[in-house]
Amino acid sequence: MDKAVAKILQKDLVGNDVVTPEELSVLMQVTDEEVLAKIYKKAYEVKTAYVDNVAYYRGLIEFSNRCIKNCKYCGIRRENDKAERFDMTEEEILEMARWAYDHEYGSITLQSGERTDDEFVDYMIELIQKIKQIGDGSLGITMCVGEQTEEAYKRMKEAGASRYLLRIETSNQKLYETIHPKDDLHSYQTRVNCLKAIRKAGLQVGTGVMIGLPGQTLQDLVDDILFYKDMDIDMIGMGPYVVHHDTPLGQEALQAGLDTEKKKLERLQLGLKMIALTRLYLKDVNIAATTALQALDPLGREKGLVAGANILMPIITIPKHRAKYLLYDNKPCVDDNADKCKDCLTRRVMSIGDRVGWKANGDSKHYFKRMHHV
Ligand code: 5AD
Ligand code: SF4
Repeated sequence: MDKAVAKILQKDLVGNDVVTPEELSVLMQVTDEEVLAKIYKKAYEVKTAYVDNVAYYRGLIEFSNRCIKNCKYCGIRRENDKAERFDMTEEEILEMARWAYDHEYGSITLQSGERTDDEFVDYMIELIQKIKQIGDGSLGITMCVGEQTEEAYKRMKEAGASRYLLRIETSNQKLYETIHPKDDLHSYQTRVNCLKAIRKAGLQVGTGVMIGLPGQTLQDLVDDILFYKDMDIDMIGMGPYVVHHDTPLGQEALQAGLDTEKKKLERLQLGLKMIALTRLYLKDVNIAATTALQALDPLGREKGLVAGANILMPIITIPKHRAKYLLYDNKPCVDDNADKCKDCLTRRVMSIGDRVGWKANGDSKHYFKRMHHV
């Protein structure tokens, strides 16, 4: 093993030693699987010490694929007229939330394409309030409905949501601009401002990036981790970029030969490395092993847990809508139902020696410390 890498791994990272940004760059360049396994092992030790080897579930309800945006990589972008649009009814959403509560999930994530009209925001508020009335009201709610006004974030928090996920997608503004249309609706600065507004509203802040985007460098990925730190982020949901064939970026990637099996494996490796390095650098945050990992490798999500992730987002969307919420190709679990996903993921968690945090809300330890100034 490279001397520089060995030296970093000898540090007492489970204790008070930290990795420097320069060391992150060194680790980011590692591609040898044996050395990577050592990095993952270290990240797993840090995870066990700082957030425990418990996987928390966030049941994912993908309730609508209508979107006003046109991100060049995403299968449900406004201009993809091949995407069959759907909206779940309120009763369907509540039914899934009840299912999550009855099956001891500590929390759920409400995800959809982006809409900012008043009707949509009012509907979200009503929905959050109704979900909070389920059982003893303990079901945690994470919102993932895009860029909203500060007022809307505050109303969601007041209604009972506790977390918000909004990915920065990439912290390199130039790259951000190449993967989004160049207009006011897709502004990097607005995205950053929204993250600040989410924090101001008192919500736990989640962000993340896509990994292995065409034109993205290893240093960009290091900078993404530094961005998480700068923004004092509580939770991270990131995953490899996966081609969707009916998108401009997907078409480009296919034509440039960026979607071979070899390239996919490289993106998977990068995705796992990002999880491990983020764990080593930030230590006490929540990090999700996302479904996109599994789109590239059947064992992708458990590999994510082994590399330092501690959150899973089992899909609980009812089967009839699953196949329509396709952000990228080869989305796993589209033919399953909520019960199957629960059992399957639980086996995956146990297979690597972690436990499931049933009924626990699994709030970010980082958020807790931030709130209590410890
Ligand atoms: N590959 C991977 N992730 C994607 N997302 C959208 N399209 C893709 C894709 N092709 C992610 C984005 C977005 C989240 C909801 O899904 O990061 O923020
Ligand atoms: Fe809409 Fe999000 Fe897809 Fe962009 S990534 S098109 S905002 S659903």
